[in-house]
Amino acid sequence: MKLDPMGELGRTHTCGELRGGDAGKDVVLLGWVRRRRDLGGLLFVDLFDRYGLTQVVFRPDEDPALFERAGGLGAEYVIGIEGAVVARPEGTVNPELPTGEIEIHVKTLRVLNASATPPFVLEEPIKASDELRLEYRFLDLRRPHMQRLLEARHLASQATRNYLAGIGFLEIETPMLAKKTPEGARDFIVPSRVHPGKVYALPQSPQLYKQILMVSGCDRYFQLARCLRDEDLRADRQPEHTQIDMEMSFVTEEDIFAVAEGLMTAIWREVRGEEIETPFPRLTHHEAMNRYGSDKPDRRFGMEIVDLTDLLGETEFKVFRSTIEDGGAVKCLNVAGCASWSRSEIDRKEERAKGWGAKGLAWAKAGEGALAGGISKFLSTGETEAIRERAGVTDGDLLLFVADARKAANGILGKLRLALRDELELVTADTFVFTWITEFPLFAWNDDQGAWEAEHHMFSMPREQDLEFLETDPSRVLGRLYDLTVNGLEIASGSIRIHRRDIQERVMAVVGIPRAEAERRFGFLLKALDYGAPPHGGLAPGLDRIVMVLTGEDSIRDTIAFPKTYKGLSLMDGSPSVAEPQVLEELQIQFVERRGGRKSEGEGSDGPATG
Ligand code: AMO
Ligand code: AMP
Repeated sequence: MKLDPMGELGRTHTCGELRGGDAGKDVVLLGWVRRRRDLGGLLFVDLFDRYGLTQVVFRPDEDPALFERAGGLGAEYVIGIEGAVVARPEGTVNPELPTGEIEIHVKTLRVLNASATPPFVLEEPIKASDELRLEYRFLDLRRPHMQRLLEARHLASQATRNYLAGIGFLEIETPMLAKKTPEGARDFIVPSRVHPGKVYALPQSPQLYKQILMVSGCDRYFQLARCLRDEDLRADRQPEHTQIDMEMSFVTEEDIFAVAEGLMTAIWREVRGEEIETPFPRLTHHEAMNRYGSDKPDRRFGMEIVDLTDLLGETEFKVFRSTIEDGGAVKCLNVAGCASWSRSEIDRKEERAKGWGAKGLAWAKAGEGALAGGISKFLSTGETEAIRERAGVTDGDLLLFVADARKAANGILGKLRLALRDELELVTADTFVFTWITEFPLFAWNDDQGAWEAEHHMFSMPREQDLEFLETDPSRVLGRLYDLTVNGLEIASGSIRIHRRDIQERVMAVVGIPRAEAERRFGFLLKALDYGAPPHGGLAPGLDRIVMVLTGEDSIRDTIAFPKTYKGLSLMDGSPSVAEPQVLEELQIQFVERRGGRKSEGEGSDGPATG
């Protein structure tokens, strides 16, 4: 089709703007041709832009030549039309559409650009494969659904800036070319051309810089910080993500929680127009693990894990008794109303539980004020009554038991609880249940390495009463660490930091960083601590995950304009790509094959290619 000269574009309205009251006006609209319908000799075109869609009509009786040209318009052509706003005839008004009361009767048409036939229809819900959508991201983002997601993210960012600036936070940028950071994932490395053999690391987070800003007296810092981590990706993980990074001086947990709760309130109000309830409830890590088998419990529904250990120490059921004698626990879920499950249904649950490492999944059904079937015959009347009371059982309920080491039992029942949530559709309402998780252990034992590692990062302050166990029993040391969770997802993480060199060095020693290495890797932080570091702490909510929750998406991928696949590929621009020889030469870099001849990422056949 012949394209028209651009001339003055002269847009008078957007495609989402016109209402019934505009009838009679002459307007100029610019946008993309989406759907086309030929109806009884009339040609209807849905003209789209970011703001909405307007129905545009070409009529052969008014201008046959124009009508014929319009017949040649293809999907996603960019056009300009001039025409009259006309109230739609009765019965054709579309109440679903903001512009549904009117249509435009076209007088002139300008074709500003043609489009190749799109590889998929820009429709809702989209039917194209994830790969195709990512390759043609420019088209995918043109869909109203994707535009709404970009908008939601924008609103969340603006609400963040307004709220934090309003309470005295300074927005400060920190370097992207940085020293290796200690967040626990692998770093992305940038070789230095000027200093051959040396590298920068892209920041996994601005953790050390923000602490140093506190030493510099900035008092309240924030940044929408890009964080880069070379880690295995999942639905809620991307190699590049954005944190609402915050740090405050002279604060305790209470101050940080209050700021975070205010921030979440502002974001929810701005993006969803909803008020959320604050303060958020708190659970210690210990409680969360015991009651939900997870440090990010989904508390939109009940079915808490019930501890029966103290009731069953003497039981006749040998599996339970011996587990308890060995220091383990017996725990159960009360699956309300599910006593009608068949044996094979219960067996299928047992198979799943075994997949998570369970040795078995004992069961009993509640009826006639007692327990029946499964292991009920091994339980005394006293035990049965105590279990029914503890687990809040009523007739018709099903009990599922796991006996194991406490941690394993919690973990298995925690997973089972979530599987039952999905299967029994226990969460139906669109609700947001926030919970702070506090007092995480400071260290976790890494079996593979045979060493202690920091549960969060090594700059978190131990609880004062646990300082004395740092050298003798690190497992006992709880940290002034907290996560914010919503609906079973961790959306923020933070801690009160160590602001004294002596404590920092002791913590580094626990995780096996000798003094000399500490000086080499974190000397700049330790030096800063020597010069009047104030007590400080902070938090970093993950913006991508927050937008995912706000918009009800099940992956963070579509909250990001240009995301990567599970394999870290950008299908649109084809990164990562091969480096030209002269680039490598300038950097004095040579690639050598790893022993064992490992395939490059992306060539493997393990799992789907997209995230
Ligand atoms: P942490 O590593 O827990 O803490 O990250 C903070 C929050 O960032 C989000 N997040 C991610 N989102 C998407 N993709 C990822 N790969 C990803 N990794 C993390 C999560 C998480 O809760 N410097 C500390 C924060 C602090 O102590 O202040 C930090 O980075 O929502
Ligand atoms: P058994 O005595 O091995 O036949 O097991 C009897 C019942 O107890 C079966 O339903 C098993 O699934 C269950 N069972 C076995 N070991 C455990 C365990 N560690 N925790 C919970 N149930 C178990």
